[in-house]
Amino acid sequence: MSDESKLSVVILAAGEGTRMRSDTAKVLFPVCGRPMIEHILNAASAVRPDTIVVVVGHKGEEVRREITGSWAESHHMEGRLEFAWQLSQKGTGHAAACARSHLPGDCGHVMILCGDTPLITGEMLQTFVQFHLSEETGLSFITTVVDDPGAYGRVRRDCHGRVARIVEANDLLPGDEQIREVNAGIYLVRKDLFDSLLSRLDDNNAKHEFYLTDVVEMAVQDGFKVSSFVWQDSSVVQGVNDRHALALAEARLREAIIKDLCLSGVTVRDPQNTYVDYGVKVGRNTVLEPGTFLRGRTRIGEGCIIGPCSEINDSLVGDNSKVWFSVVEDSEIKKRVEVGPYSHIRPGTCIEPEVLVGNFAEVKNCVIGSGSKVHHHSYLGDSVIGQRVNIGAGTVTVNYDGISKHKTVIEDGAFIGCNANLIAPVKVGKNAYVAAGSTITSDVPGGSLGIARERQTNKEDWVAKRTEKMD
Ligand code: UD1
Ligand code: CA
Repeated sequence: MSDESKLSVVILAAGEGTRMRSDTAKVLFPVCGRPMIEHILNAASAVRPDTIVVVVGHKGEEVRREITGSWAESHHMEGRLEFAWQLSQKGTGHAAACARSHLPGDCGHVMILCGDTPLITGEMLQTFVQFHLSEETGLSFITTVVDDPGAYGRVRRDCHGRVARIVEANDLLPGDEQIREVNAGIYLVRKDLFDSLLSRLDDNNAKHEFYLTDVVEMAVQDGFKVSSFVWQDSSVVQGVNDRHALALAEARLREAIIKDLCLSGVTVRDPQNTYVDYGVKVGRNTVLEPGTFLRGRTRIGEGCIIGPCSEINDSLVGDNSKVWFSVVEDSEIKKRVEVGPYSHIRPGTCIEPEVLVGNFAEVKNCVIGSGSKVHHHSYLGDSVIGQRVNIGAGTVTVNYDGISKHKTVIEDGAFIGCNANLIAPVKVGKNAYVAAGSTITSDVPGGSLGIARERQTNKEDWVAKRTEKMD
């Protein structure tokens, strides 16, 4: 017995994506930082499906690996996300048929989506489900009207305006060229109909493929109610077949992300030149200056100034911090920190509150205690820096001996003079000083001055003597 309220989703993602001209599976191309398929899954999860079946084939193992685990877990779909294999790509109809054995026996309706329409939204699919159920149709599909129908399937209607069939771009007949209404590739079909229609498809067409779109004409001819749902905003259902469409889709999603940020209280100085990945969080009253890139799992607090010209990847930035003309990767920056201009915070770094890093500083895999200052052309690697430490200009932790990396510890209140080399492993104790220009090879005890440099000698009248010799 089928349960009318049970809905399953099938996502077609087995195609080769030939037009992308790439070795990567099309559905894995990132759109605003997330693989295309993930956007489809996110939208699909909004209709609370009983099961999602992703049909994979070309580079299928890579697709499966990318979305198994974390996505299912974070969307409460564990055990309900399945993969069906389409071993040879014989068309969208054949792909949908491959999902059949994975659908629950009591499923009432099946939603079919393409893996290459990353702009579809959960709200849109929810509206579509409402439409399908209220119309009590056997089969519904979304259409949209475009100026240039290009490679889309055209919706051919009869003289009463009722849907007759979908005609693929390669199979157009005279007169079809004028059709501007196209198939968005989003379908809802009653489960019993899904089974019977798919088993009767053939590949009698220009591409010798089993077209999913043929089910429309079959359902009409069998006398079932077939409804089309016209979606006004055609850009949302845009399919990505090549990299130009990919660029357009990304621009469109970026615009939506920036708009949401602005409405939530973030100032985005130049939306055209601000790049924020899907899922990045930015707090209220933060200002994003032009040329800012916020990627991956990044979270920015409130009241921050980020940019101009900064890239922050997979990092946390606390409230009221400033990062300008700098790069931050896989790191945590806490409150009231200033990074930049021209600094590079590399993976594994944790910067405590009220630290200043920059200009031109590089920090890798370090902890920097609160109130410390790392200025002017310094390099700190694999180091633990205490609180209120002053790192003078040009200080370098010499952490690599060509074979392994070693640790530098600089305790609270220490003062490292300019141009010091700290040869790790080494420790500078609490409140100790290191004299400018020193190459420190052994620990400096707390409260001491470490000095390791040649004494200066001045040769008096040296210039005059030299000139005499030359005469
Ligand atoms: C398809 C529709 C077209 C519609 C358009 C909307 C068909 C025959 N045509 O065309 O009417 O206007 O989408 O975007 O359905 N796939 C498989 N296995 C295959 C072939 C494709 O899984 O054997 C998957 C692809 O990975 C892709 C999706 O199905 O995610 C659509 O395939 P694609 O080749 O892009 O179809 P279109 O030519 O865009
Ligand atoms: Ca497509």
